[in-house]
Amino acid sequence: MDANTLRRAFTAFFEERGHTSVDSASLIPHHPSAPLFTNSGMMQFVPYFLGEESAPWPRATSIQKCVRLSGKHNDLGELGRTRRHLTFFEMLGNWSFGDYFKEDAIGWAWALLTEHVGFDGDRLWVTVHVDDDEAEAIWHEGVGLPLERIQRLDKENFWEMGPTGPCGPDSEIHFDCGSEWGEEGGPAGGGDDRYIEFWNLVFMSYFRHTDGTLTDLPRHNIDTGGGLERWLMLLQGVPTVFDTDAVRPLIEVAESLSGTTYGADDRSDVALRVVADHARSMAFLVGDGVVPSNEDRGYVVRSVIRRAVTRGQQLGVDRPFLGALVRRTIELLGGAYPELTSGADVVVDTIEREEHRFRQTLATGSALLDVELARGAVAGEVAFKLHDTYGFPIEVTEEMAAERGVAVDRAGFDAAMATQRARGKESRRGGEADLPVEVYRRLAERAGATEFTGREEHETKARVLEVVQAGDGHLEIFLDRTPFYAESGGQVGDTGTITTDTGRAEVLDTTYALPGLHRHVARVVEGEILEGQEAVATIDDERRQAIRRNHTGTHLLHWALRQVLGDHVKQQGSLVGPDYLRFDFSHHGPLTAEELAEVERLANGRILDNEPVRAYQTTMEHARHVARRVMSFDSERQVMHFLREETRKIIPEAF
Ligand code: ALA
Repeated sequence: MDANTLRRAFTAFFEERGHTSVDSASLIPHHPSAPLFTNSGMMQFVPYFLGEESAPWPRATSIQKCVRLSGKHNDLGELGRTRRHLTFFEMLGNWSFGDYFKEDAIGWAWALLTEHVGFDGDRLWVTVHVDDDEAEAIWHEGVGLPLERIQRLDKENFWEMGPTGPCGPDSEIHFDCGSEWGEEGGPAGGGDDRYIEFWNLVFMSYFRHTDGTLTDLPRHNIDTGGGLERWLMLLQGVPTVFDTDAVRPLIEVAESLSGTTYGADDRSDVALRVVADHARSMAFLVGDGVVPSNEDRGYVVRSVIRRAVTRGQQLGVDRPFLGALVRRTIELLGGAYPELTSGADVVVDTIEREEHRFRQTLATGSALLDVELARGAVAGEVAFKLHDTYGFPIEVTEEMAAERGVAVDRAGFDAAMATQRARGKESRRGGEADLPVEVYRRLAERAGATEFTGREEHETKARVLEVVQAGDGHLEIFLDRTPFYAESGGQVGDTGTITTDTGRAEVLDTTYALPGLHRHVARVVEGEILEGQEAVATIDDERRQAIRRNHTGTHLLHWALRQVLGDHVKQQGSLVGPDYLRFDFSHHGPLTAEELAEVERLANGRILDNEPVRAYQTTMEHARHVARRVMSFDSERQVMHFLREETRKIIPEAF
């Protein structure tokens, strides 16, 4: 089974079970609780898990490009040294948004693996969370898996997106590769390279707050993630993910560029694997608009490119070589991820330029490092100089030193960095502190998520559930239903009024106190607002319309920027208010005055009639999605099935 066949089989299996196939999202997540990069398939669905938006479909399936290069999910340490880790991989997933739960998720996983893609059920093991009797019972009694092959683990069977965000207990599925791959004892006690974990079923039920506490999500959800390359490794019976048809061709390019042979020597094998993996990570990251730089995401991609260059140097490559690798990556994966093909030239150009820049200082920097390596220790200020003057990311210096068994004075390096950083301001991400979180939690337990009516009306009759005195003299008013949009995804919250028989409050802002729980930050302007009262909640409609126009403005700006600068321009974030919008985007240089004027002219031209424009864009996006999916099928039956499902979405009474 090759990569394309597996992608199709997975998608078709879940489509046949009522799931809508959703395209991979960008590697740059937008949700405020998200980490730096998309590290799993669930990330684009976070607003649905949290109840901030209602899911357009009860079930979905996707194959998501993922990067694990920073934060909680970082596989860089293992890369190249194990048979199963990659920093870029594709995640197969199926989702339920408050629809089916453990029983179907487990039953379908088993059926797909053993009846559709050819796994030998007798070699499968599962782990469940220590407290999850229910999952164990479904595996044992429902599926028929013997109890000896079901093991319980604690933290290992609790999946979290990052330090904050949705999370829940999970059940992992493993394949026993046999005694030549390590100790027996099952996934809990045996060898990690023997019992390969390849699919994780998460029973997504909680939200982890910045203070570490957990609260219930509005509904129970399913989030599953299978590593496509691991499935291929097991199904193709090859020793590592690097030997599958998804990665092996890149090893071959690296072999021929360096004149080395894969399998001949452990040290050069690690280097070949890192180079092949990094070609994929850099192609996709740059493809999604990350430009090499010294900050945040840009720094990560810069490190990836520079590490690949030093690994290439270790293999004896002393001329630019990343362009060839990245082109091959695009050939291999551009069919499954068309956005990669459409931006190919910019991706290759950006990476080649970064490689060129690094090569200018590489030889001098390497000579400096060699002196330290020969001395047997890398001083902190030398590591800093390598970073600051010669462009060696500290991780690369550390890795090169470790190869020779030499230590880097990291504390000295950090101190030098801190001094430099003190001059600049560190912009920090992350949510605000949840102070009266207990009050919110009790309220959420008692009353559930706030019902959002703001899509249909701007005035709603509601009941006052709780009035909390905030430290700054404001009130926080909680209602059972509300037309007030709560700040999320870069769009500001609504303002307006809440009126009861005894008083009137002016709502200054609306935010989420907890996922799904709208908090109206208010000031009483007349009388008083009491718990239990009937209220009328009214948004400032004019302001909401202005926000909507600015929201549309971000789409127009995005469109116009792409017209003028090219399709590589990608949204990196935005802030939308009534009188202001900020649109962050990626491009490899500043705009000229002419380009700016042209963007303005195009965007203004479209503003004339923005509602139809938006409708048109949505329709076109859908049409493109349908066309892409149809092209990926190889039987008429699949095409017909898919088209019927799509039609049913638009005309529910069809068929
Ligand atoms: N979100 C889960 C994971 O990444 C499925 O493992």
